[in-house]
Amino acid sequence: MATMKAVRIHDYGGPEVLRYEDAPRPEAGPGEVLIRVHAAGVNPVDWKVRAGFARDRLKYKMPFIPGWDLSGVIAAVGSGVSRLKVGDEVYSRPDIARDGSYAEYIVVKESEVAPKPASIDHVHAAAVPLAALTAWQALFDAARLSAGQTVLIHGAAGGVGSFAVQFAKIKGARVIGTASKKNHDYLRSLGADEAIDYNTTKFEDVVKNVDVVLDTITGETADRSYPVIKPGGVYVSILMPPSQEKAAAHGIRAAHTFVQPNVEQLKEIGKLLDSGKLKITIEKVFPLAEARAAQELNAQGHTRGKIVLRVI
Ligand SMILES: NC(=O)c1ccc[n+]([C@@H]2O[C@H](COP(=O)([O-])OP(=O)(O)OC[C@H]3O[C@@H](n4cnc5c(N)ncnc54)[C@H](OP(=O)(O)O)[C@@H]3O)[C@@H](O)[C@H]2O)c1
Repeated sequence: MATMKAVRIHDYGGPEVLRYEDAPRPEAGPGEVLIRVHAAGVNPVDWKVRAGFARDRLKYKMPFIPGWDLSGVIAAVGSGVSRLKVGDEVYSRPDIARDGSYAEYIVVKESEVAPKPASIDHVHAAAVPLAALTAWQALFDAARLSAGQTVLIHGAAGGVGSFAVQFAKIKGARVIGTASKKNHDYLRSLGADEAIDYNTTKFEDVVKNVDVVLDTITGETADRSYPVIKPGGVYVSILMPPSQEKAAAHGIRAAHTFVQPNVEQLKEIGKLLDSGKLKITIEKVFPLAEARAAQELNAQGHTRGKIVLRVI
Protein backbone atom coordinates (compact mmCIF):
# COMPACT_ATOMS: atom_id res chain seq x y z
CA MET A 1 0.00 0.00 0.00
CA ALA A 2 1.29 3.48 -0.91
CA THR A 3 1.95 5.73 2.06
CA MET A 4 2.23 9.46 2.68
CA LYS A 5 3.24 11.78 5.48
CA ALA A 6 0.30 13.06 7.51
CA VAL A 7 -0.56 14.50 10.90
CA ARG A 8 -2.98 12.14 12.62
CA ILE A 9 -4.90 11.88 15.87
CA HIS A 10 -5.22 8.45 17.49
CA ASP A 11 -7.27 9.71 20.42
CA TYR A 12 -8.83 13.04 21.44
CA GLY A 13 -6.73 15.26 23.69
CA GLY A 14 -4.28 18.15 23.92
CA PRO A 15 -1.83 19.29 21.23
CA GLU A 16 0.44 16.34 22.10
CA VAL A 17 -1.95 13.89 20.41
CA LEU A 18 -1.04 15.29 16.97
CA ARG A 19 1.37 12.78 15.40
CA TYR A 20 3.41 13.45 12.24
CA GLU A 21 3.74 9.96 10.77
CA ASP A 22 3.26 7.66 7.79
CA ALA A 23 -0.34 7.00 6.81
CA PRO A 24 -2.00 5.13 3.93
CA ARG A 25 -2.32 7.28 0.82
CA PRO A 26 -6.05 7.50 0.01
CA GLU A 27 -7.51 6.68 -3.42
CA ALA A 28 -10.18 8.63 -5.26
CA GLY A 29 -13.53 6.83 -5.53
CA PRO A 30 -16.37 7.65 -7.94
CA GLY A 31 -16.99 11.39 -8.15
CA GLU A 32 -13.86 12.13 -6.11
CA VAL A 33 -10.40 13.56 -6.83
CA LEU A 34 -7.06 12.86 -5.18
CA ILE A 35 -5.29 16.16 -4.43
CA ARG A 36 -1.57 16.59 -3.77
CA VAL A 37 -1.84 19.07 -0.90
CA HIS A 38 0.61 21.98 -1.16
CA ALA A 39 -0.69 23.94 1.84
CA ALA A 40 -3.37 23.54 4.51
CA GLY A 41 -5.11 26.34 6.39
CA VAL A 42 -5.32 26.12 10.20
CA ASN A 43 -8.67 26.97 11.79
CA PRO A 44 -10.05 26.87 15.35
CA VAL A 45 -12.26 23.90 14.37
CA ASP A 46 -9.07 21.84 13.91
CA TRP A 47 -8.04 22.01 17.57
CA LYS A 48 -11.64 21.92 18.81
CA VAL A 49 -12.17 18.62 16.96
CA ARG A 50 -8.77 17.37 18.19
CA ALA A 51 -9.82 18.11 21.77
CA GLY A 52 -13.04 16.11 21.29
CA PHE A 53 -15.46 19.06 21.48
CA ALA A 54 -17.38 17.73 18.44
CA ARG A 55 -17.23 14.03 19.29
CA ASP A 56 -21.02 13.70 19.72
CA ARG A 57 -21.75 15.21 16.31
CA LEU A 58 -18.83 14.01 14.17
CA LYS A 59 -18.02 10.32 14.51
CA TYR A 60 -14.43 10.03 13.29
CA LYS A 61 -12.83 6.63 12.94
CA MET A 62 -9.43 6.76 14.70
CA PRO A 63 -6.82 7.52 13.61
CA PHE A 64 -7.99 10.50 11.58
CA ILE A 65 -6.41 13.47 9.85
CA PRO A 66 -7.61 16.97 10.88
CA GLY A 67 -7.67 20.16 8.75
CA TRP A 68 -10.42 21.26 6.39
CA ASP A 69 -8.80 23.95 4.22
CA LEU A 70 -6.41 23.27 1.38
CA SER A 71 -4.74 24.30 -1.82
CA GLY A 72 -3.05 21.79 -4.11
CA VAL A 73 -2.91 20.02 -7.45
CA ILE A 74 -5.13 17.21 -8.75
CA ALA A 75 -3.07 14.00 -8.71
CA ALA A 76 -5.77 11.51 -9.84
CA VAL A 77 -9.47 11.51 -10.65
CA GLY A 78 -12.09 8.87 -9.85
CA SER A 79 -14.71 7.55 -12.25
CA GLY A 80 -17.39 10.01 -13.30
CA VAL A 81 -15.26 13.11 -12.66
CA SER A 82 -15.76 15.46 -15.59
CA ARG A 83 -14.94 19.03 -14.51
CA LEU A 84 -11.43 18.49 -13.12
CA LYS A 85 -8.33 16.81 -14.53
CA VAL A 86 -4.88 15.77 -13.35
CA GLY A 87 -2.61 18.80 -12.98
CA ASP A 88 -5.36 21.34 -12.19
CA GLU A 89 -4.50 23.76 -9.38
CA VAL A 90 -7.40 23.81 -6.93
CA TYR A 91 -8.53 24.96 -3.50
CA SER A 92 -11.25 23.58 -1.27
CA ARG A 93 -13.03 23.46 2.04
CA PRO A 94 -13.65 19.70 2.09
CA ASP A 95 -16.25 17.69 4.04
CA ILE A 96 -15.50 18.03 7.74
CA ALA A 97 -16.75 14.52 8.46
CA ARG A 98 -13.88 12.97 6.48
CA ASP A 99 -10.07 12.88 6.76
CA GLY A 100 -8.64 16.38 6.37
CA SER A 101 -5.77 18.23 4.77
CA TYR A 102 -2.88 17.96 7.27
CA ALA A 103 -1.36 15.47 4.82
CA GLU A 104 0.48 15.08 1.52
CA TYR A 105 -2.70 13.81 -0.15
CA ILE A 106 -6.43 14.10 0.42
CA VAL A 107 -9.48 12.72 -1.36
CA VAL A 108 -12.24 15.28 -1.90
CA LYS A 109 -15.59 15.15 -3.71
CA GLU A 110 -15.35 16.91 -7.08
CA SER A 111 -18.35 19.01 -6.01
CA GLU A 112 -16.27 20.61 -3.21
CA VAL A 113 -13.26 21.64 -5.33
CA ALA A 114 -12.80 25.00 -7.12
CA PRO A 115 -10.00 26.33 -9.34
CA LYS A 116 -7.27 28.02 -7.29
CA PRO A 117 -7.15 31.78 -7.94
CA ALA A 118 -4.33 32.14 -10.47
CA SER A 119 -2.77 35.24 -8.93
CA ILE A 120 -1.93 33.75 -5.52
CA ASP A 121 0.34 30.92 -4.39
CA HIS A 122 -0.80 27.77 -2.61
CA VAL A 123 0.06 29.06 0.87
CA HIS A 124 -2.21 32.08 0.40
CA ALA A 125 -4.93 30.04 -1.34
CA ALA A 126 -5.02 27.54 1.54
CA ALA A 127 -5.84 30.41 3.91
CA VAL A 128 -9.05 31.21 2.07
CA PRO A 129 -11.79 28.59 1.70
CA LEU A 130 -13.07 27.88 5.21
CA ALA A 131 -12.83 31.38 6.69
CA ALA A 132 -13.89 33.22 3.53
CA LEU A 133 -16.87 30.93 2.91
CA THR A 134 -17.94 31.37 6.54
CA ALA A 135 -17.82 35.16 6.24
CA TRP A 136 -19.61 35.10 2.87
CA GLN A 137 -22.37 32.75 4.02
CA ALA A 138 -22.90 34.63 7.29
CA LEU A 139 -23.04 38.09 5.68
CA PHE A 140 -24.81 37.35 2.42
CA ASP A 141 -26.80 34.10 2.87
CA ALA A 142 -27.81 34.51 6.53
CA ALA A 143 -27.84 38.29 7.10
CA ARG A 144 -28.55 39.32 3.47
CA LEU A 145 -26.31 42.37 3.96
CA SER A 146 -26.87 45.06 1.34
CA ALA A 147 -25.18 48.28 0.21
CA GLY A 148 -25.67 51.22 2.54
CA GLN A 149 -26.26 49.09 5.62
CA THR A 150 -24.05 49.15 8.72
CA VAL A 151 -22.51 45.96 10.09
CA LEU A 152 -20.76 45.40 13.41
CA ILE A 153 -18.23 42.57 13.20
CA HIS A 154 -16.99 41.00 16.45
CA GLY A 155 -13.52 39.46 16.15
CA ALA A 156 -12.83 41.50 13.03
CA ALA A 157 -9.05 40.83 12.99
CA GLY A 158 -9.34 37.03 12.98
CA GLY A 159 -9.56 34.62 10.07
CA VAL A 160 -13.30 35.00 9.49
CA GLY A 161 -13.42 38.64 10.57
CA SER A 162 -10.64 39.72 8.17
CA PHE A 163 -12.61 38.39 5.20
CA ALA A 164 -15.92 39.67 6.58
CA VAL A 165 -14.65 43.26 6.89
CA GLN A 166 -13.50 43.22 3.26
CA PHE A 167 -16.63 41.51 1.88
CA ALA A 168 -18.87 44.00 3.67
CA LYS A 169 -16.88 46.95 2.28
CA ILE A 170 -16.91 45.49 -1.23
CA LYS A 171 -20.71 45.19 -0.87
CA GLY A 172 -20.91 48.89 -0.01
CA ALA A 173 -21.71 48.57 3.68
CA ARG A 174 -20.34 50.66 6.56
CA VAL A 175 -18.16 48.48 8.79
CA ILE A 176 -17.45 48.69 12.51
CA GLY A 177 -15.07 46.06 13.89
CA THR A 178 -14.04 45.00 17.38
CA ALA A 179 -10.42 44.03 18.08
CA SER A 180 -7.69 44.85 20.56
CA LYS A 181 -5.90 48.16 20.00
CA LYS A 182 -2.88 46.58 18.32
CA ASN A 183 -5.13 45.49 15.44
CA HIS A 184 -6.86 48.81 14.75
CA ASP A 185 -4.50 49.95 12.00
CA TYR A 186 -4.88 46.49 10.50
CA LEU A 187 -8.69 46.75 10.53
CA ARG A 188 -8.50 50.14 8.83
CA SER A 189 -6.15 48.68 6.19
CA LEU A 190 -8.90 46.14 5.43
CA GLY A 191 -11.37 48.98 4.99
CA ALA A 192 -13.11 49.16 8.37
CA ASP A 193 -14.68 52.58 9.00
CA GLU A 194 -14.44 52.29 12.77
CA ALA A 195 -12.51 50.08 15.20
CA ILE A 196 -13.50 49.46 18.81
CA ASP A 197 -11.04 48.18 21.42
CA TYR A 198 -13.01 45.53 23.30
CA ASN A 199 -10.50 45.73 26.18
CA THR A 200 -11.28 49.35 27.01
CA THR A 201 -14.66 50.16 25.45
CA LYS A 202 -18.04 48.48 25.75
CA PHE A 203 -19.24 48.38 22.15
CA GLU A 204 -22.84 48.86 23.29
CA ASP A 205 -21.84 52.27 24.72
CA VAL A 206 -20.68 53.56 21.32
CA VAL A 207 -22.67 51.61 18.73
CA LYS A 208 -26.38 52.04 18.04
CA ASN A 209 -28.86 51.06 15.35
CA VAL A 210 -26.75 48.77 13.19
CA ASP A 211 -28.45 46.63 10.56
CA VAL A 212 -26.33 43.53 11.12
CA VAL A 213 -24.07 42.04 13.79
CA LEU A 214 -21.71 39.26 12.74
CA ASP A 215 -20.54 37.59 15.93
CA THR A 216 -17.44 35.35 15.82
CA ILE A 217 -17.02 35.55 19.63
CA THR A 218 -20.49 34.95 21.23
CA GLY A 219 -20.96 34.13 24.93
CA GLU A 220 -21.93 37.37 26.65
CA THR A 221 -21.19 39.24 23.38
CA ALA A 222 -24.44 37.83 22.00
CA ASP A 223 -26.67 39.27 24.73
CA ARG A 224 -24.91 42.62 24.55
CA SER A 225 -25.34 42.72 20.76
CA TYR A 226 -29.14 42.51 20.52
CA PRO A 227 -29.80 46.05 21.83
CA VAL A 228 -27.42 47.67 19.30
CA ILE A 229 -29.35 46.23 16.33
CA LYS A 230 -32.18 48.29 14.87
CA PRO A 231 -35.66 46.68 14.76
CA GLY A 232 -35.85 44.44 11.70
CA GLY A 233 -32.07 43.94 11.75
CA VAL A 234 -30.15 40.67 11.96
CA TYR A 235 -27.80 39.01 14.45
CA VAL A 236 -25.67 36.17 13.03
CA SER A 237 -23.52 33.90 15.17
CA ILE A 238 -21.01 31.46 13.72
CA LEU A 239 -20.67 29.72 17.08
CA MET A 240 -23.80 29.16 19.14
CA PRO A 241 -27.39 29.05 17.85
CA PRO A 242 -28.76 32.32 19.27
CA SER A 243 -31.82 32.65 21.50
CA GLN A 244 -34.85 33.18 19.28
CA GLU A 245 -36.85 34.44 22.27
CA LYS A 246 -34.34 37.19 23.07
CA ALA A 247 -34.07 38.15 19.40
CA ALA A 248 -37.86 38.37 19.09
CA ALA A 249 -38.00 40.54 22.22
CA HIS A 250 -35.70 43.03 20.44
CA GLY A 251 -37.64 42.81 17.17
CA ILE A 252 -34.68 41.37 15.28
CA ARG A 253 -33.92 38.15 13.37
CA ALA A 254 -31.25 35.84 14.77
CA ALA A 255 -29.42 33.17 12.80
CA HIS A 256 -26.60 30.68 13.17
CA THR A 257 -24.42 29.52 10.28
CA PHE A 258 -22.12 26.56 9.96
CA VAL A 259 -19.93 26.84 6.88
CA GLN A 260 -20.77 24.59 3.94
CA PRO A 261 -18.59 23.70 0.94
CA ASN A 262 -19.65 25.87 -2.02
CA VAL A 263 -17.77 25.87 -5.32
CA GLU A 264 -19.73 28.76 -6.88
CA GLN A 265 -18.95 31.00 -3.90
CA LEU A 266 -15.28 29.96 -4.00
CA LYS A 267 -15.20 30.98 -7.68
CA GLU A 268 -16.68 34.41 -6.80
CA ILE A 269 -14.14 34.82 -3.99
CA GLY A 270 -11.38 33.76 -6.40
CA LYS A 271 -12.42 36.53 -8.81
CA LEU A 272 -12.15 39.10 -6.00
CA LEU A 273 -8.66 37.79 -5.15
CA ASP A 274 -7.48 37.84 -8.77
CA SER A 275 -8.82 41.38 -9.25
CA GLY A 276 -6.85 42.56 -6.22
CA LYS A 277 -10.01 43.67 -4.36
CA LEU A 278 -9.59 41.04 -1.64
CA LYS A 279 -6.42 40.59 0.41
CA ILE A 280 -5.17 37.68 2.49
CA THR A 281 -3.18 38.24 5.68
CA ILE A 282 -1.06 35.38 6.93
CA GLU A 283 0.30 35.66 10.44
CA LYS A 284 2.63 32.66 10.26
CA VAL A 285 3.48 29.67 8.07
CA PHE A 286 4.59 26.39 9.69
CA PRO A 287 5.86 23.20 8.03
CA LEU A 288 3.35 20.33 8.17
CA ALA A 289 5.49 18.52 10.74
CA GLU A 290 4.94 21.46 13.13
CA ALA A 291 1.14 21.31 13.10
CA ARG A 292 1.17 21.15 16.88
CA ALA A 293 2.87 24.55 17.20
CA ALA A 294 0.47 25.97 14.60
CA GLN A 295 -2.59 24.78 16.55
CA GLU A 296 -1.14 26.01 19.85
CA LEU A 297 -0.66 29.48 18.36
CA ASN A 298 -4.18 29.57 16.89
CA ALA A 299 -5.72 28.34 20.17
CA GLN A 300 -4.40 31.44 21.95
CA GLY A 301 -7.30 33.23 20.23
CA HIS A 302 -5.39 36.21 18.86
CA THR A 303 -4.46 35.24 15.31
CA ARG A 304 -4.33 38.19 12.90
CA GLY A 305 -5.66 36.81 9.63
CA LYS A 306 -4.61 33.21 9.11
CA ILE A 307 -2.07 30.53 10.04
CA VAL A 308 -1.06 28.06 7.30
CA LEU A 309 0.81 24.74 7.12
CA ARG A 310 3.18 24.38 4.16
CA VAL A 311 3.13 20.79 2.95
CA ILE A 312 5.47 21.09 -0.08
N1 LIG B 1 -19.82 28.26 12.17
C1 LIG B 1 -18.79 28.10 11.37
O1 LIG B 1 -18.94 27.55 10.28
C2 LIG B 1 -17.44 28.63 11.75
C3 LIG B 1 -16.47 28.78 10.74
C4 LIG B 1 -15.24 29.33 11.07
C5 LIG B 1 -14.96 29.67 12.40
N2 LIG B 1 -15.91 29.44 13.35
C6 LIG B 1 -15.63 29.80 14.75
O2 LIG B 1 -15.60 31.21 14.82
C7 LIG B 1 -14.62 31.64 15.74
C8 LIG B 1 -13.68 32.60 15.04
O3 LIG B 1 -12.98 31.90 14.01
P1 LIG B 1 -11.70 32.56 13.35
O4 LIG B 1 -11.13 31.56 12.40
O5 LIG B 1 -12.01 33.91 12.89
O6 LIG B 1 -10.76 32.63 14.65
P2 LIG B 1 -9.33 33.31 14.84
O7 LIG B 1 -8.70 33.57 13.52
O8 LIG B 1 -8.60 32.49 15.82
O9 LIG B 1 -9.74 34.75 15.47
C9 LIG B 1 -9.14 35.25 16.54
C10 LIG B 1 -9.48 36.75 16.62
O10 LIG B 1 -10.44 36.98 17.65
C11 LIG B 1 -10.17 38.25 18.20
N3 LIG B 1 -10.73 38.33 19.55
C12 LIG B 1 -10.46 37.56 20.63
N4 LIG B 1 -11.26 37.92 21.66
C13 LIG B 1 -12.05 38.94 21.22
C14 LIG B 1 -13.10 39.72 21.79
N5 LIG B 1 -13.50 39.53 23.05
N6 LIG B 1 -13.70 40.66 21.02
C15 LIG B 1 -13.32 40.85 19.75
N7 LIG B 1 -12.33 40.16 19.14
C16 LIG B 1 -11.72 39.20 19.87
C17 LIG B 1 -8.65 38.35 18.16
O11 LIG B 1 -8.31 39.70 18.04
P3 LIG B 1 -7.31 40.39 19.10
O12 LIG B 1 -5.97 39.71 18.89
O13 LIG B 1 -7.31 41.82 18.68
O14 LIG B 1 -7.86 40.08 20.45
C18 LIG B 1 -8.26 37.55 16.92
O15 LIG B 1 -7.96 38.38 15.82
C19 LIG B 1 -13.94 30.38 16.26
O16 LIG B 1 -14.50 30.04 17.51
C20 LIG B 1 -14.29 29.32 15.24
O17 LIG B 1 -14.33 28.01 15.78
C21 LIG B 1 -17.13 28.95 13.06
